[in-house]
Amino acid sequence: MNKKGIIIQGSSRSKGNTNKIVTFIQEKTGFDSIDLKSKNISGFDYDFKNHGDDFIPLMKEIVDNYDTIIFATPVYWYAMSGILKNFFDRITDCLRIEKEIGRKLKGKTMGMVSCGSDSELKKGFEMPFIETANYLGMHYLGSIHTWMENEIISESLKKELNIFIEKNIKTRYNEV
Ligand SMILES: Cc1cc2nc3c(=O)[nH]c(=O)nc-3n(C[C@H](O)[C@H](O)[C@H](O)COP(=O)(O)O)c2cc1C
Repeated sequence: MNKKGIIIQGSSRSKGNTNKIVTFIQEKTGFDSIDLKSKNISGFDYDFKNHGDDFIPLMKEIVDNYDTIIFATPVYWYAMSGILKNFFDRITDCLRIEKEIGRKLKGKTMGMVSCGSDSELKKGFEMPFIETANYLGMHYLGSIHTWMENEIISESLKKELNIFIEKNIKTRYNEV
């Protein structure tokens, strides 16, 4: 089966700045996207009492249908969003009680897109993504930092995004 990529959007608003970047990348790649804000995913629970929420069905869909997972997060207080961090914490479920999902993550590819108000991304922001990919046996395709001026994607940022898409994403997908 010819598998595609998915962009996992972790913003606290569904149609905000991160979504503009997600839409731009989607238009260029044909990737699907999922809005974590529209899902009911609670924080990690050692007793797994939240087993019935949206996390496991969503993860099953992701591992069964996609080769590449790109996380798109706003920068909130120098870090990934809380919504996305919850999602990362819940990956622990896939190592403890849903091990089949955890095994399927191995060999897939991860990337990251950040969206802030500052053009500078502070040192260390990318580390959790790189190390999580390493830990799970995933390939890491890299990242791009974006920022918004007056709620629009500037022409220079569009150019940078196009280069990232061509060099880091499309090289893996002959069909896009
Ligand atoms: C709670 C909160 C914290 C933020 N912290 C930062 C920050 O540390 N660095 C930064 O560049 N922008 C920061 N911003 C600005 C957002 O990253 C920026 O507006 C981003 O484009 C918002 O994306 P969104 O519309 O998807 O939420 C913060 C915004 C919020 C709401």
